[in-house]
Amino acid sequence: METVILDDPAALGRVAADAVVALLERRPDAVLGLATGSSPLPVYEELVRRHEAGKVSFARARAFTLDEYVGLPEDHPERYRTVIEREFTSRVDLRADALHSPDGTAEDIPAACAAYEDAILAAGGVDLQILGIGSDGHIAFNEPGSSLASRTRIKTLTRQTRSDNARFFDDDVDAVPTHCLTQGLATIMAARHLVLLATGRGKAEAVHHLVEGPVSAMWPATILQHHPHVTVLLDPAAAGRLQLAPYYRETWASKPDWQGI
Ligand code: F6R
Repeated sequence: METVILDDPAALGRVAADAVVALLERRPDAVLGLATGSSPLPVYEELVRRHEAGKVSFARARAFTLDEYVGLPEDHPERYRTVIEREFTSRVDLRADALHSPDGTAEDIPAACAAYEDAILAAGGVDLQILGIGSDGHIAFNEPGSSLASRTRIKTLTRQTRSDNARFFDDDVDAVPTHCLTQGLATIMAARHLVLLATGRGKAEAVHHLVEGPVSAMWPATILQHHPHVTVLLDPAAAGRLQLAPYYRETWASKPDWQGI
């Protein structure tokens, strides 16, 4: 696990965008994994900027989102598919039919989840997965207690997550759906490179467990310690509880330019 601490979210966005651009140069039809929420926004902003500057094309790329609320109608502005289209994919040249997301309106939820797993496999798996982390340590919507071997399925959101996300629903926690479809921890672990972003003091405890704690379903993101290629991008506030922060800073400062993340 590589932990990188940089001054501000824009700097984190540039490092993650470098990795996406390098991947698409190597493999123009790469499969991207996209998270919603606030944390990845600097990455998407930077990728849009570079696309507008003619430095990257997504024309042959494919993308899979991590999760979706259950029961939000297709025209709801906070439906995760709508959010990712608004924040990112409609602003670059990714084909509309190359964006895949779990179907939170499906009548047969288990079949929709199985179909999503099949679609990821059929695409050859995710090359680079962008992740955020919840203040309770969730990744995608794998809440505490999630099986470390889980696949795409329905989950109940914790009160904490619903209250964290109420800001997108006019601060009304009761308007936040109670259920979601989410890639499982094993689904995420199958992606080839995981790039997790976390900013702000509210993430410091979860980041402390993720990077330096024992692996436990109580802090689901800790499963990433078992992945061979994980990059954790943090601002100083999110890194505030890391014991080895000086070492992570030193490692990044002395890293050869050619190496990338
Ligand atoms: C969203 C997702 C969630 C968020 C997490 C952090 O697709 O998978 O795990 O990444 O809830 O959300 P933000 O970034 O809004 O703090």
